[in-house]
Amino acid sequence: MSETFFVTTALPYANGPFHIGHIMEYIQADIWVRFQRMQDRRVHFVGADDAHGAPIMLKAEAEGVSPQALVARIAAGRPRYLEGFHIGFDHWHSTDSPENVALSQDIYRRLKAAGLIDSRPVEQFYDPVKGMFLADRYIKGECPKCHSRDQYGDACEVCGSVYPPTELIEPYSTLTGAKPVLRTSEHFFFRLSDPRCRRFLHEWLEQPGHVQPQVANKAREWLTGKGEQALSDWDISRDAPYFGIPIPDAPGKYFYVWLDAPIGYLASLKSYFDSGKARANGEPRDFETFLTDPDTRQIHFIGKDIIYFHTLFWPAMMKFAGAPYKVPDNVHVHGFVTVSGEKMSKSRGTGISPLRYLELGLNPEWLRYYIAAKLNANVEDLDFNAEDFVARVNSDLIGKYVNIASRAAQFISRHFESTLTAHRLTEAAHWREQSPGILLAGKDEPFEWLQSWQREARLVRRLYEEREFAKAIRVCMSIADSVNQYFDFAKPWTQVKSNLEPQLRRAQFVCSAALEGFRILSIVLAPVLPAATQQAANFLNVPEFKWSDIDGSLPPGHRINHYEHLMTRVDPKRIDALFEPAGDAPADTVTPAAAGQHAQALPAGAAAAPAQTPASISIDEFKKIDLRVARIAAAEHVAGADKLLKLTLDLGGETRTVFAGIKSAYDPAALAGRLTVMVANLAPRKMKFGLSEGMVLAASGEGGGPYLLSPDSGATPGMRVS
Ligand code: MSP
Ligand code: ZN
Repeated sequence: MSETFFVTTALPYANGPFHIGHIMEYIQADIWVRFQRMQDRRVHFVGADDAHGAPIMLKAEAEGVSPQALVARIAAGRPRYLEGFHIGFDHWHSTDSPENVALSQDIYRRLKAAGLIDSRPVEQFYDPVKGMFLADRYIKGECPKCHSRDQYGDACEVCGSVYPPTELIEPYSTLTGAKPVLRTSEHFFFRLSDPRCRRFLHEWLEQPGHVQPQVANKAREWLTGKGEQALSDWDISRDAPYFGIPIPDAPGKYFYVWLDAPIGYLASLKSYFDSGKARANGEPRDFETFLTDPDTRQIHFIGKDIIYFHTLFWPAMMKFAGAPYKVPDNVHVHGFVTVSGEKMSKSRGTGISPLRYLELGLNPEWLRYYIAAKLNANVEDLDFNAEDFVARVNSDLIGKYVNIASRAAQFISRHFESTLTAHRLTEAAHWREQSPGILLAGKDEPFEWLQSWQREARLVRRLYEEREFAKAIRVCMSIADSVNQYFDFAKPWTQVKSNLEPQLRRAQFVCSAALEGFRILSIVLAPVLPAATQQAANFLNVPEFKWSDIDGSLPPGHRINHYEHLMTRVDPKRIDALFEPAGDAPADTVTPAAAGQHAQALPAGAAAAPAQTPASISIDEFKKIDLRVARIAAAEHVAGADKLLKLTLDLGGETRTVFAGIKSAYDPAALAGRLTVMVANLAPRKMKFGLSEGMVLAASGEGGGPYLLSPDSGATPGMRVS
């Protein structure tokens, strides 16, 4: 059995939609996977949602839904992005799955049997109101160094000092505001400091090819740290309440999310095998046989922020759990996407939302091309710059690549009945003997041009293999330049005007050769542009491209299909729209007109128009609005209304009926019981379906929507919002 690849991307946290950083990672991996498949390599490419952990648990709680329901809602949104950007995962799963429970518990038991699990008491801050141990990010207080207030439990954002949360002055829990108390609890540790682990990791990092050199250096630094920097054992347990996987034989203890997250790679693979999809994908083996086959290569694509987990814990866990578990063969690390030079913020995302990109009708392959043109195999950040984007797509992709087909196809279909020259383009001798008039001396020797395009195309293979996509694209564009130069030099448009047979034959020959160049280019661009190059294959009337097609050529007398434009140019104005705030009407206005408006697909231009709001209002004007926490006591469909749901809201005694335009985003069953925020003093409004007595608040914008607002846990119905 030849090499089979098991490829993953990092598992995104299931607490929000994809941002451009995720999409960039998926595009990188997808290009590489498609390239391998074009060489008839068998690849299993899987992903999953990273579902566990305290943030997801708390977010679900704040929304009044179960963590499973929250994760399911996020998961339901994934296909739109993946299909939208042509990202061809074979399977998408979740870490909150029976497969992951079984695998995580099995791996833990094996590590324990190997003597690599310890337990010892740990003293930690505890929120007595919430009844929960607090991670550093849920504790704030005054910085012990510079005395700035409201600094997080691990570091001060003002003076940059780092400290343990116990040193904070007047610490408080960000969950309840309560003063945290110190409490002791038994924790489990993975003994990364064990000499066996260190020895193994040193060896693993030493062998070239597992990780990029700069990544190996970073990991070695951690591995050899001394004193305070020394590599310590890894705390892998969390106390209830926690959304995670129970630790065997340890009631009330759960695996820390980062233990079960990478195991989720295997859980997804297992679910893919068990579902029969792997078999349908040409894989005869079962999960275990596949994993233990020495010809299986396990490859992870990740970002630079999670190197620690993937180059220390993960390989060590796999190594000491033993077969069928497998130490990763490659961890490929990429840098971060920045937008116009700015780091993207975790809370605000970036100026560009992938969903908005798709909603504006921008071509997903423009982005794939742009990312490919800027990605290399190093851990370098990649800047999305609007002007650069427009320039590369318009001048390279359209101006060079697409242009060849539109120029040459026109002559072939108009003058030569869509038929290419009757002789094999790569056989020069034949032409020299039979139709010497077709060849001009010197520079336009077409065989030389053709051969140089093929030669250059063969160079691209190694570049894709090594993930040097920017270099690969540069070679592609140099081929495209050369094909265009040949065409300009040979000027078929002058010969088609002639009535002389040799002249006409020559024009046919030149256009055929240019289309041969276009075919070669389409092959090398296929991993980046799966849809456009499939269309190119249809136009050329050839089967789906394989890498080895570079060495072949179109048969003599081949007929092509009618040329339809492969791709349009980017209108810079539409890219500007990507950066503007979305101005959709507020999602939950009670008026039927407004409710209808938000639910409609907005035309590109309209979506971009900023909302009309006055520059500022006085606090007194704001105070006129009576905002209250409300509990959704009941939610139901309204017969005959396609946008509205009928909500019964509990304001802590008082009950209101509100018709809200949120049907497109919410299942009534999932709303009952949750808290939200309402405008309680909006004048009642008679509607076709009944009287609406207020309005609930929701957000919508570049990430879609409407998203109902939720108060933090602790708020109760009727509380005033100000
Ligand atoms: N859930 C963990 C990964 C668990 S893997 C077993 C996680 N999730 S994440 O959603 O925060 O990030 C997922 C991936 O997106 C990571 O590889 C991360 O590096 C990548 N990116 C996050 N922000 C990014 C950019 N701004 N640019 C490029 N990639 C970015 O970490
Ligand atoms: Zn400080």
